[in-house]
Amino acid sequence: MSVKHDPVDLQVIFAPMIFDLKELTTAERQYYLQHVVAPRPICFASTIDTKGTVNLSPFSFFNLFSTNPPVVIFSPSRRVRDNTVKHTLQNLLEVPEVVINIVTYDMVQQTSLASCEFPQDVDEFIKAGFTKEPAIAVKPPMVKESKVKLECKVNEIKSLGEEGGAGNLVICEVLKVHIADELLNEEKKIDQSRLELVARLGGDWYCRVSKKNLFIVPKPNTKLGIGIDALPESIRSSKLLTGNQLGLLANVHELPVVEPSFDDEHLKNIFQYYSVNPIEMEKEVHAYAAKLLDQHKVHEAWQVLLAAENIV
Ligand SMILES: Cc1cc2nc3c(=O)[nH]c(=O)nc-3n(C[C@H](O)[C@H](O)[C@H](O)COP(=O)(O)O)c2cc1C
Repeated sequence: MSVKHDPVDLQVIFAPMIFDLKELTTAERQYYLQHVVAPRPICFASTIDTKGTVNLSPFSFFNLFSTNPPVVIFSPSRRVRDNTVKHTLQNLLEVPEVVINIVTYDMVQQTSLASCEFPQDVDEFIKAGFTKEPAIAVKPPMVKESKVKLECKVNEIKSLGEEGGAGNLVICEVLKVHIADELLNEEKKIDQSRLELVARLGGDWYCRVSKKNLFIVPKPNTKLGIGIDALPESIRSSKLLTGNQLGLLANVHELPVVEPSFDDEHLKNIFQYYSVNPIEMEKEVHAYAAKLLDQHKVHEAWQVLLAAENIV
């Protein structure tokens, strides 16, 4: 468990290094920004030119920006090496349609292979070993092996600059979404743990969304949490409870009250053992509450803390 320090300590221990981006080279900017603005989902974009030549390339400058209208944006940058534009962008300027194939763990190595700078007339479907599947509403083919595909029309391309490294925002309206049956349950809802998404971080780092690293953060959509500022002072200034643990406590809709029926053997033992040492008692109680919070037992943690407030 991480122990909190007061703000003065933190300044000494974690004094940040501040980078002025104007003083960095494009490669350095790319290095720092890609490591920290991460993980980024991967858009595996299939495009086509007017002659019918198909292109398939991955882009991690990509995300969902609107659901009504349904809009996703990705960005093929100007090459830093020679300031040329990528084939994907050239194709989109000719035929403003794209299929965005969502990348899962089972296809990540082939996806990376497709990112090689093959000449324009080379078909990355063939090079990377993917199968073409016709789309319904747009001309570029879909990647059959991808479990989720978005058929999109391109509404706008916004250039962010003229120098190497400058992005080009490809603003796409999603027309159709194909989702593999295996990802859906009986209610046609997506089982998040079955879709083993991968995402890009800095350098050669990727991450894999798998069952063991998924977790839930319950969010009250309609009711407001009380907020950290509404926590009793002894809890808010605890040296043992972490920011995450305080966040859980402060996400209740109203300040809980002591429940006389609450009965906890371990808490009773703490009270008995530390009856002559209130400072140690508070530490023990907070450590116990922290343990309960780590098991998402928010109600029990509150009762433990409130019972101790009344005793200490
Ligand atoms: C996972 C991954 C993500 C990438 N993301 C981007 C990106 O967001 N923007 C970009 O310009 N290049 C990105 N690249 C590099 C392009 O895929 C690469 O330059 C590719 O050759 C472009 O192909 P094209 O010229 O056929 O369009 C990425 C590469 C990989 C492997």
